[in-house]
Amino acid sequence: MIAEVGAGVQDWAPGDEVCALLAGGGYAERVNVAATQVLPVPKGVSITSAAALPETAATVWSNVVMTGGLGESQTLLIHGGGSGIGTHAIQVGRALGANVAVTAGGQYKLDRCRELGAQTLINYREQDFPAVVNAEYGGANVILDIMGGGYLAKNIEALAENGHVTIIGLQGGATAELNLGALLFKRGSVHATNLRRRPEQGPGSKAEIITELRQQLWPLIAKGAVKPVIAAEVPITDAAEAHRLLDSDQIVGKVLLTVREH
Ligand SMILES: NC(=O)c1ccc[n+]([C@@H]2O[C@H](COP(=O)([O-])OP(=O)(O)OC[C@H]3O[C@@H](n4cnc5c(N)ncnc54)[C@H](OP(=O)(O)O)[C@@H]3O)[C@@H](O)[C@H]2O)c1
Repeated sequence: MIAEVGAGVQDWAPGDEVCALLAGGGYAERVNVAATQVLPVPKGVSITSAAALPETAATVWSNVVMTGGLGESQTLLIHGGGSGIGTHAIQVGRALGANVAVTAGGQYKLDRCRELGAQTLINYREQDFPAVVNAEYGGANVILDIMGGGYLAKNIEALAENGHVTIIGLQGGATAELNLGALLFKRGSVHATNLRRRPEQGPGSKAEIITELRQQLWPLIAKGAVKPVIAAEVPITDAAEAHRLLDSDQIVGKVLLTVREH
């Protein structure tokens, strides 16, 4: 988007090409957002493609790096590798020097995950993901989970010692029985986070995440190690078609709503 800057705002000037973290909301041609939630369009990325980044990047970085502490040579397991979140997380994991394992429900998505850098491809309809991850890596140090209750027991089974499960989605339900003995045995932890409800400023805030993105992730994007993955661009006037695409579950990456040509 093109910035229109209010009085007293530093860092940004009217006419700057920027993208902003909105974390939920509706579709609009103009938005009002705190200056601390604004990022420059990364070098080498078009202003339209940049729209795919802020929410996805903030979700992945805050969970995988800031909470999960993923490091070089560790193992990251991503559920839903073909999702908007998953396709970004694969690239971030590899750019940080981690091993990346993904789950997906079909070969097309697994092939795209491999192209993006995932080394271990697990079809959750046919394979038992804890068995695969334990056999290949001795467990995952960080698990980025979108399934919630339905995967909790198996995620703990797939966890390495001192590992972190970070739950960001509840597609498999919000409740589950937790075997604390299994978690304790691995000295593991389970986190559940939500971007939308984070405060604007202060510890754990959106501003804190945006600062890290700008300092640490934006250089990785500028050098091409992490790219926006866009399944389709649809005019905002045809938003219903964008929803049909998402509902089809056949797409890999983000669907963008375009407002006007730049
Ligand atoms: N907490 C937060 O702050 C936050 C922020 C953003 C997004 N999210 C959540 O993150 C999730 C992903 O968001 P998105 O926009 O990237 O969604 P998306 O692109 O619509 O993808 C959803 C994915 O779920 C996968 N899936 C369905 N059942 C699965 C299973 N049993 N095991 C593994 N994967 C499975 C689907 O892949 P298959 O076709 O392979 O099944 C699909 O790729 C959503 O649950 C969303 O609510 C949370």
